[in-house]
This record gives sequence, structure tokens and C-alpha cells, in this order.
Amino acid sequence: MKYLFIGIFFLSLLVFSCADLKETNETRIDNLLNKMSLEEKVGQTCQITLDVILDRDEKGNALVPASVNEKLLNEAIDTYKIGSILNVGSHTLSLVEWNGVIESVNKPYISNTSKIPVIYGVDAIHGMNYTIDGTLFPQEIGLAATWNLDLAKRFAEITAYETRASGIRWNFSPVLDLGRQPLWSRNFETLGEDPYLASEMGAAIVKGYQGEKLDKFHVAACMKHFVGYSATSSGRDRTPAWIPEKYMKELYLPSFKKAVDAGALTVMVNSGVVNGIPGHINYHLLTETLKEEWGFKGFAVSDWEDFIMLSTVHHTSETLEDAYIKAFNAGLDMSMVPLSPQYQEYCKIIIDAVKSGKISQKRLNDAVSRILRVKLEIGLFDDLNYKMEDYNDFGSEEFRLSAMNTALESITLLKNSNNILPLSKGNKILIAGPTADNLIYLNGAWTHTWQGMDTTFNTKGCKTVREAFESKFGKENCLFSKGVELYNDKNFENSRFVQIEDYKQKVDLADVVVLCLGEMPSTEKPGDIRSLNLDAEQRELAKIAYQKNKKVILVLLEGRPRIINDIVNEASAIIQCYLPGDYGADALVKLISGEANFSGKLPYTYPKYDGIIEFYDHPRSVDRDKSGGFDAFDPQWEFGFGLSYCQLKYSELKISSPIMNANDSIVITVKVKNEGNMAVKEVVQLYISDDYASVIPEGKKLKRFQKIQIESKSEKTVTFTIFKEDLKFINLDGEFVIEEGDFSCRIGNLMSKFKYKF
Ligand code: BGC
Repeated sequence: MKYLFIGIFFLSLLVFSCADLKETNETRIDNLLNKMSLEEKVGQTCQITLDVILDRDEKGNALVPASVNEKLLNEAIDTYKIGSILNVGSHTLSLVEWNGVIESVNKPYISNTSKIPVIYGVDAIHGMNYTIDGTLFPQEIGLAATWNLDLAKRFAEITAYETRASGIRWNFSPVLDLGRQPLWSRNFETLGEDPYLASEMGAAIVKGYQGEKLDKFHVAACMKHFVGYSATSSGRDRTPAWIPEKYMKELYLPSFKKAVDAGALTVMVNSGVVNGIPGHINYHLLTETLKEEWGFKGFAVSDWEDFIMLSTVHHTSETLEDAYIKAFNAGLDMSMVPLSPQYQEYCKIIIDAVKSGKISQKRLNDAVSRILRVKLEIGLFDDLNYKMEDYNDFGSEEFRLSAMNTALESITLLKNSNNILPLSKGNKILIAGPTADNLIYLNGAWTHTWQGMDTTFNTKGCKTVREAFESKFGKENCLFSKGVELYNDKNFENSRFVQIEDYKQKVDLADVVVLCLGEMPSTEKPGDIRSLNLDAEQRELAKIAYQKNKKVILVLLEGRPRIINDIVNEASAIIQCYLPGDYGADALVKLISGEANFSGKLPYTYPKYDGIIEFYDHPRSVDRDKSGGFDAFDPQWEFGFGLSYCQLKYSELKISSPIMNANDSIVITVKVKNEGNMAVKEVVQLYISDDYASVIPEGKKLKRFQKIQIESKSEKTVTFTIFKEDLKFINLDGEFVIEEGDFSCRIGNLMSKFKYKF
């Protein structure tokens, strides 16, 4: 008892001191606001890109190494009092260059502490991809394929550490848009098609970025892109989406809500349009939902030039003035303007709008206090100096190993006929295909440059697929031929044959062909494609090898699930690598050689036909035609699918009670046995569906998952607890409700039912 009291005493001290800290921050915000001029307040809401203040040569190119031009910086800081800077120049910087840039940017504040420091933001979306030698992890889609929350958190911790090592305290990540449009160029930046998986992984990333407290090893997270950006109906980037309220609430909002609950400090707004309303003027979503209903206390930043685009692209405002006022009043707190002279114009327009009352003082103060709150939380008022020596683990062996382990648990085995894998030694292996021999195909966009195409900064010492095979299986056992190359064809990706005769001859010499197919790195508008089908030339490489009766292992390095159905049947093995990062090739050969076991599972439904894009949680009506021989839902591979080297047996699916009442929870258990000869990590997935509901229920819906390690020949019991909240859906009145009736639970090939009663 005594210890209990002592415990309670210390706990209350902690609670009070946290409350005090918050209070101090809130008081500090009020004090600052009282002292700030209108110009200073408006400046806080303005974000410019680094390019605006860099030194340039006579041709206008930024100098290398990058250096900040004092005159331009002073204009931005002293005259316009801007609140934020983002981005890199045209390419990746070294740690020393970053150090110089951030020191220059911070200098005016260090010499005059009454000024409010800028918050610097960057897109470190799969590791600190804008610092030379930063540790590069799989892109988010690959992270989701691990279904491992610890790995997701660790990825974010390491990225935060390396971002801080570069002097930056704000990361424009994670992307929480749902990956439900496989054509979309940013599919690889998402956490897949399922809201529960994306919510769990997204919250783990936010916690990893921000830590228990925002010390010098953590960064502010930025939830992107609120909301519905990914659901474009054309599949083209930044084009309109149509999302009924039911699906907005059930599918697109949950990952953001969960991240807000996890404490995410900032949000970036959808550049596109949902239901005819550009994301940047959606008062209902930005103010009513995010800020008022969910209680989000951080700030909302626009996406690139999006205040401007309301007028120039979306045509919802005739003038820039009207566009800026609408966005601001909808709930945007900061504008990524981001160029000059646009940013100067922005400041002038907002100042005038406040003076004329078109933007209220209250709205302006709200926006500024949100920005100040985040600046306080990340310690910008406490200590601007940063020492590179505090970050000796940057690019460390431990970090690289973590990136490799993440790739190991992400890469997904989709087919393994006649156990061709693990691949035994002694085979002559032809490594071929357009993506086999360059790190850019492992990393994708947002790597060293925006589109990730520049090879200048490829991490030294990291292996391409070809190099990893040569080092694992011996150079003397490996042949190489590209066969096809990817190229940019008037802004669209295309493939063409290169030295095809060389390829054919080497196929003849090989026992096994490892054919690396996939996509060119790209994102946003440059990543738009015209068809989901993988280019014919790439598929032809497989067909040539099949005609010669060779065993072919297809290795997919792609951000989107490109359709390959005409080369699936004859392939001996198929491996989805997604975009596994700098250590992806090492991980791949460890898996292929059997040194490690596969455990990745698809975070999306892999389509078989471009005319059938359905998701795993479709309603039963979609399946109806199956019996008539039709194929309304006929994917190549299902969501959650992935093989390993072990046979797993599920048994004894048990539900703690046949009936669940309003206040109850139920416990669901299942046994999983590893009948294989090596240890395996298995993702145990629990799906529940409402048998009947007033609005058509899904056939199955992911409610829980656990990734567990099972030793060879041993068995584990997995336990899940399900609450009433988990069974709710949006009814005709737009409300989350639960209805009485039967629910079906599925784990593996097992099914059992329980009843819900009020
Ligand atoms: C992208 C954002 C990114 C921003 C800053 C925009 O074009 O849509 O995801 O954070 O640029 O680089």
C-alpha cells in the first residue's frame, strides 16, 4: 500500500509538471502573440523553399557546396519575417553542408533571441533520403508489407535521429493516404489499402518520429495529405476524387484520426479535390473535423503552391487574394508558397486581408498560436545550436542492419513452384532485366532527388540486385544481361529492348533466370501512367526464357502492382520487393538463398486485370457472379497473402463467448503450428464481418493482426481482444453504429461465429 501511495504521489507530480509545462507553453504563446506585430504574425504563416535563399552561379544554378545567400535570407527573415523553410536544393547534401545551411538559417535568431526561429521541414520519407549516406529503408508500401509495428517505429526513430543529425526538426511524413488506386503514382508512399493496417503502422511511425518527448533525437511528424488525395478517380496525381461520406469515415479518415491520437504535431493538406471541393478550402474537413471534432492542436500546412493553385488550377477563385483568404479561413495555418516573388506577394495579401477584416484577427491568432505551439514543442525556443558530434550513430552499422531487417520482413514471396526456392548453389544464374543493376530501382523517388533518378548520390557500398547475387552465389556462377531498359518517353515511362540477342544467348547458358522487372523511379505528376499493365517488352523477356524452358524467378521492383498475368503461370517463383531501399538486394539474396525466411504479406490486393480493380473488403454482392463463372473479384493475389518456406497449420479458433453484449469484449484465440524445418515469422490476421446489416456489410474486414516468430515444429497460441467499437460501421444517417446479429470471424482457413446482442 505504502508503495502505491508513493507511486501515486510521483505520478501526480509527473502529471502536474506536464500540465505545468503545457501551461507554460500556452502562456508563452499568449505572451508572444501579444508582442507580435501583424507583419510578424503573417510571416509565421509563410513557408519558402530553400532554393529561394541559396547562393547561385551566373547561370542561376545553386552553388555546390550549398550556401545560403545572406541578403536573400535577411529579406525573408527581417523584411517578411517568414516562419518556415523547406526542402533541399536540387539534390542531396552532405551532413557538413546541412550543418552550414542550418547554421546560416539559425544565425539571425541566435544573435537576436527576441525573433521567432523558422521551422525547417523536409521529406525524409524512407530514411533521411536527402543527406548523403543517410540510412535508406523500404518505402512505406514495403514497410506496410512487414506488418511489424516495432519495425515501423524503429524505422521512424532512426529517420528522426538522422534528420536531427542534419539539423532538421520537422519531417513531412508519414503519408496516411489509403492506397486504393493502384494507378496512382504515389501508391508506394502509402501504407496499403486497408484502414486498420494503415492506422496501426501510421501511429507507430508517428510515435517513432516524435518519441516520448521531443528531444534532440526526434522530429515533428506531418500527416499527409489530409484527406482523400489518393482516391483520384482517373488515377492521375492531383485529380478529383469522389468519396461518399460513409467511405470517407470508414476508409480515409481513420489513419489520420489514429495519428492525431498518437500526438502527430502537423498535417499537410490534400492537393487534389474531393467531391468537387479542393482540399485547401474544405472547411468541414480541416476545421470542423480535424480541429474541432478531433481536437488537433498542431498546425496545417498547405502542399506545394496550393494556395495559388486554387485560382490557377482549380478555378474556385478568380483572384489570388480570394484564393488565399478562402484557404486561410478554411483552416490552413501555413502556406507552402514557396517561391519568390510569390511569397512576398502572399504576405502582402494576407496582411491586407486581415486589415480589411476578410481574415479575422482571431483566425490569424489561431493559426500563429498553432505554429508557435509546435515550435515550442520541438524546442526551437530552447536551443538552436546543434552539434554534429551528438549524432555519431548517423549511418551506423546498427541503423543499416535495421534497414536490412525491415527489407527482409517486407519482401513478399508470391509463388514458389516445386520449391525452386531456396535456390541451391551450383546453378548458373542469369540476372537480367531493367531493374537489376542500379540502386535507383531499389529506392524509387524521394531518394537524393525528388524523382530519384539521379545516380550521382547512390550510397557507396550498397549493392544492386546483380551485385548482391554475384557476392552471394559467386561471380563465376552469375551472368548478366539487361535485355530491356526503361526510359522517359515524352513524360511517360516506357520500355525498349537493349542488346536483346545478348540476353537470348545468356538465357541459353543459364539454369535459372532471375528477371528483375518493374518501374522507373517517379512520383507525383511525373509518375502518371497510361496503363497498369507492365510494359510488353518487359513481359517479353520472361516469355523468351519460358520458350527456352528455363526456370524463371520474377523479381518485382515496383511502387504499384503492375499487371503481369500473362507471365505468372509459367514463372517458377515470383517475389514482390516493392521499393526495398539501399539494403533491399542484400535482403533479397538472403531470402532467395534460404539464409532467411520470407515473412512479408501484401498490403494490397494485387490485380490480375486492369478492368477489375477491387479490394479485399468488397461487399458480398461483388462475389455473387462467381458461381455463374464470372469473375467480379479475381485478383492475382489477395491482400494479406505471402508465402514462406514453412507450412503453417492453423487450428482451434475459439471465441470466449458465443454472445457479446454492449459492455463486453470477446477474446479470440487460435493456434498456429510451424510444420516447416526453419523458424518463421507469421502474420496472424483476424478478419470479422457482419453477416447482415442495414447497409451492405463487407465480406471480410481486417480487425487485428500480430506478427509472431514460431520456431520449427512448434506451436503458438495467439490471442486477440475485440471490442464493440471494432464492430461499428457507418449507417444511413452517417453515424458509427453497431447492430445486433451474427458476426463471422476468420483466421487463416478457419471460421467461427458469435452473436452481438444489446
Ligand atoms: C508533395 C508533398 C511534399 C511537398 C514538399 C509536394 O509536392 O505533394 O508530399 O511534402 O511537395 O516537398
